[in-house]
Amino acid sequence: MIKKKNSEIEKDYLKKINKIQKLNKAYYINSKPIVEDKIYDELKKNILDLEKKYYFLKNEMSPSTSVGYKPSKNFKKVRHMTPMLSLGNVFKRDDLINFEKKIYNFLSFNHNTKIEYSVEPKIDGISASLFYKDGKFIQGLSRGDGVQGEDITENLKTIEDIPKGLNGKDYPHEIDIRGEVFINNSDFENLKNKFANPRNAASGSLRQKDPKETKKIPLRFVAYTFGYSKDLKINNQFEFLVSLKKWGFKTNEFNKVISGIENLINNHKKIEEQRNKIDFDIDGLVYKVNDFNLQKRLGYAANAPRWAVAHKFSANKSISEILKIEIQIGRTGALTPVAKIKPVNIGGVLVSNATLHNEDEINRKDIRLGDTVIVERAGDVIPHVISVDKKRRNKSSKKFIFPKKCPCGFETIKEFNKITKKFDAVRRCPDRGFECEKIAIEKIKHFVSKDAFNIDGFGKKIVESFWAKKLIRYPNDIFNLNYKVISKLEGWGDLSVANLKYSIETKKKITLSKFIYSMGIRHIGQENAKLISKNLNSFENFLSMKNRLDFNHLLNIDGIGDTQITSIQNFFSNKKNLLMLEKFKKIIEILPEEENIIGGIFKDKTFMLTGKLEGISRAEAKSLIEKNSGKISSNVNKKLDYLVIGDKPTIRKVNEAKELNINVISQKDFLKMLNFKDF
Ligand code: IVH
Repeated sequence: MIKKKNSEIEKDYLKKINKIQKLNKAYYINSKPIVEDKIYDELKKNILDLEKKYYFLKNEMSPSTSVGYKPSKNFKKVRHMTPMLSLGNVFKRDDLINFEKKIYNFLSFNHNTKIEYSVEPKIDGISASLFYKDGKFIQGLSRGDGVQGEDITENLKTIEDIPKGLNGKDYPHEIDIRGEVFINNSDFENLKNKFANPRNAASGSLRQKDPKETKKIPLRFVAYTFGYSKDLKINNQFEFLVSLKKWGFKTNEFNKVISGIENLINNHKKIEEQRNKIDFDIDGLVYKVNDFNLQKRLGYAANAPRWAVAHKFSANKSISEILKIEIQIGRTGALTPVAKIKPVNIGGVLVSNATLHNEDEINRKDIRLGDTVIVERAGDVIPHVISVDKKRRNKSSKKFIFPKKCPCGFETIKEFNKITKKFDAVRRCPDRGFECEKIAIEKIKHFVSKDAFNIDGFGKKIVESFWAKKLIRYPNDIFNLNYKVISKLEGWGDLSVANLKYSIETKKKITLSKFIYSMGIRHIGQENAKLISKNLNSFENFLSMKNRLDFNHLLNIDGIGDTQITSIQNFFSNKKNLLMLEKFKKIIEILPEEENIIGGIFKDKTFMLTGKLEGISRAEAKSLIEKNSGKISSNVNKKLDYLVIGDKPTIRKVNEAKELNINVISQKDFLKMLNFKDF
């Protein structure tokens, strides 16, 4: 019964989305509105109200996620001179300790050396990058996908906090100032019926086609970092924040410099207590290693800097009841139990699903159907069940029996972990490529997702609906969709089909690392995909792995171990995967990685390290080689160009290298090649 009702609600909702899209096109593309503003506003409010009331309603074309027509067509896309990255998150003390430990290890610092952090509130708004040339505001971009942003200069110009010209004289010739656009909570009161929350209101207003519309909204701007810069003569983040103020920007009044984990945690507690008294939403604190030199040495891993992290505020909790336990199958075959709970509001978000993690967790906590439970929602992390109130348990309740079969019919397994000598807590449907339907759907969802092919408007719901209609079975099917059939489906109009087609067409070129990541091979995340891509260099080389009997050559890559190799081997041993790769070869263009911007002085040179290095960790030395386009080898062979020796090197390696006439150099010589004087 309930199901039927939901589908009717959804049908009505999709009709409204379709309608508003037509009105949007008329207004934004043709600049010829076909209805009065009042009618448009009513329809929009109607959609937003429906989304607020029914948690399951979502659509990429909804006015809550996109403002106006597809923003990518409203605004010119511009490449950021340096990418706008995101930050890693920590929630607990241990995570924070771990974050700092990694820094100490990377820099090879001993613990008498203090590291100072610039501590800044993390405002929950929309980031923007403002380019100033000779003190004049030239161009402003939204974050976009981090690599390309949208040119929203005119809209940004309407914000009072953004200086059109910089004060003083000591600003750099060229600089991208980055910061957060947001709305004060008190100002949001008047916009409540138009937007779901202050963040949406900021994002929506910022991307209006007409800057006059943007000007009506009291947007604010706080500056906190920079991207590209020329002639910046500042040595640390805090000095930079002070300069921002001198140049005419607003900075956060809670910014400070702190060192030591305990001091960071105390400050975090204090700010969290004051959080409700502040007139804008902050969801944590950002810690940045203060010294720019150290920031440079630490560099970046995948999408986030090693020198910064977001320390999120603690979770919110609520009590609810378990209505149903569903088993979801992930991309890697993991069976994850998810509790459908009586919807509760936790920290402003209506929560109706909570993860139960895995079979062992259910047994350990003895979670049962109908139980009263405490649910926690921490930051962007999926809500989870913390504990059961056993006193309120029904006497007739029975232990939950975890299914031993995947819904696809295959038996599931628990893998044995050789290192911990224990069986995994997670039960899995062994990944047989695309044979398990559930895994196949998840693989496709992964394929279109943001960090993979990033196909605009191709969300999870669309994957599910196209799958159900048998329009897709493998990721490559996305590039051969039957648009005629799609345009006849409910909720699809000519316009949305054209948009989809456009999004897909623009994604026919991709870098090898993104492609490898998109394949969703277990244990091959973004970082590993990048490493493999750099090592292999071309799609042909990647493809040719199917003919190899062993993949041990990949062991040369720092970070790739037996686990990853087994997984890759597994991928290539599956015929369906091979067929898919062959198809991709014909449909799309897979490009080698772009050359590293920093240098290339080690281009075509291979290095090997032996012995303990002084004042620099092995990880940092390797990252320096890679940053300068060099390669790393883990054994002495003819192709090696340099053997770098530290303290107590392996004599055998040194002798072998000498025999092969390979340059044997000291750590000092190595750093000299890089123009380092400080070590
Ligand atoms: S620094 C690589 N500083 O948080 C450096 N970001 O997840 C990244 N944010 O997109 C940016 N306050 O929108 C930085 N004081 C602050 C920030 C801050 C808020 C946002 C920003 C960014 C996201 C990173």
